Amino acid sequence: MSRAIQIAKNGGPEELQLVDVSVGEPGPGEIRIRHKAVGLNFIDVYHRTGLYPLPMPARIGMEASGVVEAVGPGVTHLKAGDRAAYASQPPGSYCDLRVMPAKTVCKLPDAIDFETGAAMMLKGLTAQYLLKKTQPQGGLKEGDFVLFHAAAGGVGLIACQWAKAMGLQLIGTAGSDAKCALAKDNGAAHVVNYAKEDFLARVKEITGGKGVKVVYDSVGKDTWDKSLDCLQPFGLMATFGNSSGPVPPFAPGILGVKGSLYVTRATLFSHIATRESTQAMADDLFEAVTSGKVKIHIEQRYPLEQVQQAHRDLEARKTTGSTVLTL
Ligand SMILES: NC(=O)c1ccc[n+]([C@@H]2O[C@H](COP(=O)([O-])OP(=O)(O)OC[C@H]3O[C@@H](n4cnc5c(N)ncnc54)[C@H](OP(=O)(O)O)[C@@H]3O)[C@@H](O)[C@H]2O)c1
Repeated sequence: MSRAIQIAKNGGPEELQLVDVSVGEPGPGEIRIRHKAVGLNFIDVYHRTGLYPLPMPARIGMEASGVVEAVGPGVTHLKAGDRAAYASQPPGSYCDLRVMPAKTVCKLPDAIDFETGAAMMLKGLTAQYLLKKTQPQGGLKEGDFVLFHAAAGGVGLIACQWAKAMGLQLIGTAGSDAKCALAKDNGAAHVVNYAKEDFLARVKEITGGKGVKVVYDSVGKDTWDKSLDCLQPFGLMATFGNSSGPVPPFAPGILGVKGSLYVTRATLFSHIATRESTQAMADDLFEAVTSGKVKIHIEQRYPLEQVQQAHRDLEARKTTGSTVLTL
């Protein structure tokens, strides 16, 4: 048996209910993993509210670390007793113990503790594929400006540090002066408090009127229009989230008017579709963390039983950096 967080229907944080579930043996390609810590992510809110629909009742959570208890037939990269961590489909990481596909579960290096492992996989692999694999035509070079919204959040704080290590000038937006200071301390070259400053005007000022080569936008509805105007001709709009609501439909003609822009709606799950691609990206992330290039900031911890409060705080923009649910 295991404790797990389940929703019977979509709705507010009060729908997150602690239940007891039975856990069986892993089948082909699966493992059973006993969690040590669980990561909280904004996608968990989309699953709870129904923006990303799931069959009901639904388990929630996409990220955790723990110890492998058993492996099913065909699993060769993990064995019982291995320390491991993952960002993965299907949802269901808010629990003590689960059976799940092994494909995207990676061995956790000894130098990385369990809480850090749970706090970094989904957010860190996202920062990895955005900065390294979601680039404008011609790529990114040292000194290039990029705009990264919600720079003090979970994905954001990792991206600030990694962009600096890559020699990029990351302009980070955040919703308060304190969050801006945190992003700056973590490597953002410039910060903009978009709750009180016009981020388009500030981006133009910082870049001498040129604009940026790429915008990484997870805020969605509220930042979409102005973000397009922050781009240089042929720039890339990488929209990858909806924390303020989804981007409304738009006419492709505006991309021509604004300078033959490119748009991608990027998602981690395309990048971690195979064991090989997941492991290559995880190796890059593990190197960034163990070398000290990227520090994982766990700024909030909630016991699993207080997951409703964790969701309230995340949605109310009260959190910074990573959040873990403790078991
Ligand atoms: N597509 C992918 O592959 C992928 C993977 C991981 C994450 N994501 C997306 O990346 C974003 C960041 O994820 P995260 O888990 O690290 O969360 P997070 O950044 O720690 O939290 C979301 C942040 O968004 C900002 N925000 C702006 N408007 C908001 C609003 N109306 N309501 C709530 N927050 C608002 C807030 O920062 P400020 O107060 O500073 O504005 C808030 O702290 C999310 O949109 C998530 O869905 C996408």
